[in-house]
Amino acid sequence: MNDFCIDVKNLNKHFGNQHVVKDFSLQIGKGEIHGFLGPNGSGKTTSIRMMCGLLTPDSGSGHCLGMNIFTQRDLIKRRIGYMTQHFSMWGNLTIRENLMFISRLYGLERPRAIVERTLSELGLLSRQHQLAKVLSGGWKQRMALAACLLHKPSLLFLDEPTAGVDPKARREFWQTLHHLSDDGISILVSTHYMDEAERCHKVAYLSYGNLLASGTIQSIIQAQNLTTMRISGRGLSALENRLQRRDGIEQTVIFGNNLFATGRDKQKLQAILAEVIPAGYDTCRVDTTLEDAFAWLMKNNNEKSFN
Ligand SMILES: Nc1ncnc2c1ncn2[C@@H]1O[C@H](COP(=O)(O)OP(=O)(O)OP(=O)(O)O)[C@@H](O)[C@H]1O
Ligand SMILES: [Mg+2]
Repeated sequence: MNDFCIDVKNLNKHFGNQHVVKDFSLQIGKGEIHGFLGPNGSGKTTSIRMMCGLLTPDSGSGHCLGMNIFTQRDLIKRRIGYMTQHFSMWGNLTIRENLMFISRLYGLERPRAIVERTLSELGLLSRQHQLAKVLSGGWKQRMALAACLLHKPSLLFLDEPTAGVDPKARREFWQTLHHLSDDGISILVSTHYMDEAERCHKVAYLSYGNLLASGTIQSIIQAQNLTTMRISGRGLSALENRLQRRDGIEQTVIFGNNLFATGRDKQKLQAILAEVIPAGYDTCRVDTTLEDAFAWLMKNNNEKSFN
């Protein structure tokens, strides 16, 4: 037994002749919030389902909370919480009724007391009698989180829990995740939002079924060895076009009046900017972001796949 709540090695999954997850390995420490990112269709949900024993991998090995993901699937299900990607609760029941129903499905003792406590802990008391189908995205997601906490799991799999939820509700949701983590609950959470990735202790990045990076945000950024320059001024898209054509510029992106250009070779990048950027623009080196690092990983991986 080791100290990882998830410890899987070389998991593979095919659907028909599509190889959806390729030699996927991941270790997650207890109490950690681990982000899971990657483009649509990259295999996040499939990997989550294999790690929690809902889907049998074609090959590989692994443990979830010390239990074998091939042979102890029923035991795993009782110890984890899984919030599915798409809302899967009953619209014609109220929040309280949904939670009561799920408590009974789990066969929990004293379901009423458990639901009462969970409603209170997740700040749901004021809406407890509203039908699920009329709730806003933020309240629905909070109810879904409550539902997967009823049986006191020590590990949560949250599959894009905040998709389409407004910034305030997302912020509150993440506060709750950090409280849970402080209480020792481990969390694997998939997301497309970079600000959420940055709230995690560690992140993993998947693309076309390949795990391209995993670790702390700092370690992932540093490992790519990129330099990013910021060019400030007006009329940036024409400049961007010119930069994009140059060998030595890996990627560019505009945010308002700032154009960011990233390259692998600092000297080369700065030489290109000195040549291309006219006077009157302010140019300076800035920190490479996680988004820059992921964009580079994706590009690099695509180029490798096509070569
Ligand atoms: N049950 C299934 N049968 C056949 N193909 C599937 C099945 N589930 C997933 N796939 C395919 O496997 C690939 C990976 O899908 P998956 O849902 O794991 O990706 P994802 O990273 O979760 O994407 P998203 O960000 O859109 O949720 C996709 O091409 C998808 O169409
Ligand atoms: Mg998915």
